[in-house]
Amino acid sequence: MKSFITFAAIVSVANAQITTLCAQYGSYTSGAYSVNNNLWGESAGSGSQCTKVNSISGSGVSWSTTWTWSGGSSSVKSYANSGVSFTKKLVSQVNSIPTSVQWSYDNTNINADVAYDLFTAANINHVTYSGDYELMIWLGRYGNIQPIGSQIATATIDGTSWALWYGSNGSQKTYSFVASSPIKSFSTDIKHFFNYLTQNQGFPASSQYLIDLQFGTEPFTGGPATLSVSNWSANVQ
Ligand SMILES: *[C@@H]1O[C@H](CO)[C@@H](O)[C@H](O)[C@H]1NC(C)=O
Ligand SMILES: *[C@@H]1O[C@H](CO)[C@@H](O)[C@H](O)[C@H]1NC(C)=O
Repeated sequence: MKSFITFAAIVSVANAQITTLCAQYGSYTSGAYSVNNNLWGESAGSGSQCTKVNSISGSGVSWSTTWTWSGGSSSVKSYANSGVSFTKKLVSQVNSIPTSVQWSYDNTNINADVAYDLFTAANINHVTYSGDYELMIWLGRYGNIQPIGSQIATATIDGTSWALWYGSNGSQKTYSFVASSPIKSFSTDIKHFFNYLTQNQGFPASSQYLIDLQFGTEPFTGGPATLSVSNWSANVQ
C-alpha cells in the first residue's frame, strides 16, 4: 500500500492596492510616476474601464486595467497608462531613456494594442497629450487593428525587427514601431528609436522637445479583458 500525502502550500499573496480609478480622467501620482485611467475616446462606443494602482515606488509602478468596449470598432476608447515626469529636453540633448516593463493580457481575443506613447514638440510649453510628433512602440497588437497611416519600413533596433508605420492626424506626425509578435518582457533605451528616426526619417531631434512618456493599452473593442503591468519603469536622462 502506498500512501500519498497531499501537501497544500497556502501562499498568502500580498494583494495590497492603493486605489481604483474609474472616472474618465481618474489619475494617481506618487513621486515621478503616475497611473491614468484616461478614457479619452469613450464616447465613440459604449462600455466601461477601471484601472487599479497596485504599487508605486521610485523604482517602478505596478498597475492593471480592466475594460469592456463595444461599438465604434475603428476608434480607440482609452489609453490607460503609467507615465513618468521628467525635465523636458531637446531630443538631441537626451542621453538615454532607459525603460523596462513586464505585462500580460488575460484575454487576447480583443482589438487592442499595448504600447509606449511619447510626444515631442518644438514648443516646450505644448500641451503634453499631443505633439508635433508622436512616437509609439507597439509591444502587443491584438485583433484587427493597425497604427495610423501605413507601413513605410522595417527597422532593426538593438537586434529586434519592427514594422515602422507612419501617418499624420491633423498637424501631428505619428511614427509607430510594431513588434511582429507580443513582447511581454521588454527592456530598452527609447533614445535608440529616436536615433533611428533622426538618421532614417529626418526627425528634427535638435528642435523637438520630449514632453511626454507613457506606457499603456489602447482598446478598440472586446472584453472583458485585463492588462496587468507587473512592473514598469522609465526615466529620461
Ligand atoms: C522594477 O523594475 C526596475 C527596473 O528594472 C527595478 O529596479 C525594480 O526593482 C523593479 N521593481 C520590482 C518591484 O520588481
Ligand atoms: C486623430 O485625433 C483626434 C483628436 O485627438 C482623435 O479623436 C482621432 O481618434 C485621431 N485619429 C486617429 C486615426 O488616430
